[in-house]
Amino acid sequence: MKKYLVIGNPIQHSLSPKLHNHWIKENNIDAVYNKMKLNQKDIEGVIAEFKSGKIDGINVTIPFKKSVIHFLDEMTPLAKEAQSVNTIFKKANKIIGDNTDIGGFEQSLKHINYNVQNKKVFILGAGGVATSIILALKRLGASKITLSNRTKEKAEELKKIYSDLEIIDWGEVPDFNMIINATSLGLKNDDDISLNYAAIGPNKLFYDIIYNPRKTNFLSKAKQFGNQIENGKMMFIYQAQLAFKIWHGIVPKVNNNLLD
Ligand code: ATR
Repeated sequence: MKKYLVIGNPIQHSLSPKLHNHWIKENNIDAVYNKMKLNQKDIEGVIAEFKSGKIDGINVTIPFKKSVIHFLDEMTPLAKEAQSVNTIFKKANKIIGDNTDIGGFEQSLKHINYNVQNKKVFILGAGGVATSIILALKRLGASKITLSNRTKEKAEELKKIYSDLEIIDWGEVPDFNMIINATSLGLKNDDDISLNYAAIGPNKLFYDIIYNPRKTNFLSKAKQFGNQIENGKMMFIYQAQLAFKIWHGIVPKVNNNLLD
């Protein structure tokens, strides 16, 4: 039986096992997908198990998407460009890091028929997932990307890689068509992002990378003021679909109620 894992910390909220095991069963594959809470010092050992054939595939989540890179033999061009790995596979005995967050984000926008071309996009946050989103937005032809992070230095670091990024202070709001919450603010139910929602809306797209809870305060308030909202559920499902294809060579079926 093949063994797959998602590694992260915290990991108890991850719905990856539920989704992958559903698809494994649906496609009659002899495999199991588990979650594993790790500390940074444990990563080397897990990758060694992968090399020795005890593990057949790994998903990586917060906070290891960058730090895992050090232990890999190779990276795909996309993962390299984003400097972020969420899917690991083995090819010709080499451990290779890939990034399906980029494709997952792109497909989630296609899913809602949102065309980013010539749109102004405002990103909140500069953590693990921000680089993948920036890359996807550039590939999709966004006309301008503005980014704001509580710790401005981290945003400035991103500007070193993506020089056309506009960086503004935390709390400032630029003119935009689409805003993306790529911070962890909203994971807790009483988390709030202080924005002047009345002055911003209506008719913008508010996108939250968070999918659990389903409707963060960010999305609730945006909706109240007449904006379109989208949570991170479809991005999550599509990044998993791409990982499944890499490991099993099968494109599993996606529908809206997979996680219900
Ligand atoms: P990491 O930055 O270690 O990769 P992450 O979970 O991927 O972790 O990113 C967390 C993001 O949420 C960061 O952009 C973080 O801002 P800082 O860089 O200033 O830490 C943001 N974040 C977390 N808690 C926040 C808060 N209370 N207010 C504003 N931003 C917050």
